[in-house]
Amino acid sequence: MTKKRLWITRRLSDATLDRAKRDYDVVINYDDTPGTAADLIAASADFDAIIPCHSELFSPEVVAQFSDRLQIVANHSVGVDHCDLPALEGRKIVVTNTPDVLSDATAELAMLLMLGAARHAVAGDRIVRTGSWDSWSPAFMVGKQVTGARLGIVGMGRVGRAFAAKARGFDMEIHYFNRSELPPHQAQSAIYHDSVESLLEVADFLSLHCPATPETLDLMNVDRFARLPTGAVIVNTARGALVDEDALMAALDSGQVAAAGLDCFKIEPGGNPALAKYDNIFMLPHIGSATRTTRDAMGFRALDNLDEFFAGKIPKDTL
Ligand code: DGY
Repeated sequence: MTKKRLWITRRLSDATLDRAKRDYDVVINYDDTPGTAADLIAASADFDAIIPCHSELFSPEVVAQFSDRLQIVANHSVGVDHCDLPALEGRKIVVTNTPDVLSDATAELAMLLMLGAARHAVAGDRIVRTGSWDSWSPAFMVGKQVTGARLGIVGMGRVGRAFAAKARGFDMEIHYFNRSELPPHQAQSAIYHDSVESLLEVADFLSLHCPATPETLDLMNVDRFARLPTGAVIVNTARGALVDEDALMAALDSGQVAAAGLDCFKIEPGGNPALAKYDNIFMLPHIGSATRTTRDAMGFRALDNLDEFFAGKIPKDTL
């Protein structure tokens, strides 16, 4: 049987690429540069399937120029804010993502950011690394204790729940906001809030785990930062779109927010240079799911979805 033509837009894990080469007539972008609008439009005429990352933008304008050949976009990501789903649906192109498999890796990174932000990881590392550590006192680099503190989670989906599970290891009191209240076996005694505002009132630590949608754009804005307990710590491993970065800097300046841990930014790659002057922001370059185990699992999940589709089934992760 003729193999289906597949374009892989970025350099995925070796195991993923080996399996793709075995099962598909695949072209891999070994240069690893993000696919442009022109690349995507050209690919829609040459390939039956694309495995993109969140770095490729399927805007309505781009999708409108697609040829009819492309049948499926099997994302190598859980987030799909780079895909205009109605536009793709309008072209009868199936879209899938890779849920579940990256929840633990992302939750691990959220924990790293929360701990690092709370305990001056950026300033502490710099002081030791630059040889400027010349004194010690009981008042030196005193941070905020995580153990036993109240944690607010916005978005109690798979990643939010994985983070809650890890936070229980720190005896945190877990509160959450979600579109709907979770059944007890998923909530695991976490306390439900029916509004973000109510959650913020108790969130000494706040971690964002909801998708970027028009409704969640600038979810954390001036008004909402003001509702946090003074000296709160905020963590974002979801999407940069969720945080108004100017409002965050104002909240850090006033002391309303003591520290932040960010893996996502409004502008990626690159981030916001204005954030760099804040030692109390622990920043990483969108690497929440970047472990070897998880990269293989994401690639395999994208390929599983393709295999199901070309076997005439509805892929498990169809959106
Ligand atoms: C995701 O899967 O959405 C991660 O942000 C990596 O793309």
